[in-house]
Amino acid sequence: MDHITFHHDTVLSDVHMLLPNARHLMTRLNAVGQPVFISKFKILSDGEKHGNDVPGRSLKEAEEENDEPREDGEQDAKVPQGTAGEEGEEGEEREKGEEREQGEEEEEGGEGKVEAFLDEDGDLDITHRPRNPPKETSGRDLVCPIIIQQSNPVLEEEEDNTEDEDDKSFNDIIKIEHTMATTLEDVGKQVWRGAFLMADFILSEPLMFRGATVLELGAGTGLTSIVMATVAKTVYCTDVGEDLLGMCKRNVTLNRHMIEPAGGDVRVRQLDWLQHDLCTDDDVEFRWTEEEVADMYNNTNIIIAADVCYDDDLTDGFFRTLYRLCSNFTHTCTVFISIEKRMNFTLRHMDVSCDAYNHFRHCLSQLQDLEDGRCSFRVQQLPSTCAQFLLYERIEQLELWKVTATPLPLEPSAI
Ligand SMILES: C[S@@+](CC[C@H](N)C(=O)[O-])C[C@H]1O[C@@H](n2cnc3c(N)ncnc32)[C@H](O)[C@@H]1O
Repeated sequence: MDHITFHHDTVLSDVHMLLPNARHLMTRLNAVGQPVFISKFKILSDGEKHGNDVPGRSLKEAEEENDEPREDGEQDAKVPQGTAGEEGEEGEEREKGEEREQGEEEEEGGEGKVEAFLDEDGDLDITHRPRNPPKETSGRDLVCPIIIQQSNPVLEEEEDNTEDEDDKSFNDIIKIEHTMATTLEDVGKQVWRGAFLMADFILSEPLMFRGATVLELGAGTGLTSIVMATVAKTVYCTDVGEDLLGMCKRNVTLNRHMIEPAGGDVRVRQLDWLQHDLCTDDDVEFRWTEEEVADMYNNTNIIIAADVCYDDDLTDGFFRTLYRLCSNFTHTCTVFISIEKRMNFTLRHMDVSCDAYNHFRHCLSQLQDLEDGRCSFRVQQLPSTCAQFLLYERIEQLELWKVTATPLPLEPSAI
């Protein structure tokens, strides 16, 4: 196959969009014949990281600021858009910083140079130089390249680890196996920007997650769970599909160098939003043990979900699952959800609309308005301005939401 074929319903994450179409960098074909790649993402140190955060402003202060308009009884969920994208002096500073970084990257390959390879047929295979952000429309925070290195054709895990262990910066590198373009039902095999925003948030607020028992819903490749396990105690990293869960488990193994020193534990398990119960079936590889089910219900104090609301039926299933879990906890649980507000032109509207996002907001409002006597839900949008530890385009459509689920005291009549 000379070209990757895009079917009409094939989707490609923006995270992979800027990569060259270099099939020789593919690692293997997975069980369903999809090309698998490994990308290495560097976690930037304090000195290197992108300053999206407002200096001196803690998350708590930012949250309080975001809370203010809701004193009058307005729904928390009705927060105006655009907190992340506002540009001022700070934005200009940020852009200068990025220009510097991009300049440094260019130096490696020579100013303005484009690397060229010959493929095995002798055809020229050009790696495009990262595009610079258009200066006049500086509203966008374009950062490239996102992926710092790709795999060799044959990448034996052990060989790779030996090579990396000699590298001092090894502990800062997350290695993720993923595919590049998939049908909608396989989107979990790609890495999405929402996972990066969630990872940034975790790395910005480590105290919030230290020692926590965390449940990730729709974990995909597992990147966010892996980052979470560098601070939390136990992470139940969940999704559906044996092939995807297998890839996710492999990623957890590939990143044990980050997880083990921190004492974290990631358990890859099946959790289908369209099923009522957790799978404990002996025949299923990613089943839950009875002990894990009990631990998850008794101790989960944080739930995270990155970019999981893109289809209305699945979003309904996701919110039903969230409700079911939280209303069975006897303790408060905090849920963090990242979402990208995607705009599409639809024939139905004959206009640009963001249906999936609107449905997500509708579900949040429903959750907040729920009066079932068992659990109360408080919804807030958080600023998406935490510092950037990973390089990706932090577009203003990337949002972070917090839901606090608190069990209500039982009515005397119910006791
Ligand atoms: C857009 S991907 C996001 C993956 C990952 N969180 C990220 O941001 O890179 C959506 C995820 O939701 C998962 N998902 C879809 N339907 C699901 C279901 N019924 N139960 C559990 N997870 C589901 C997909 O498998 C996929 O991993």
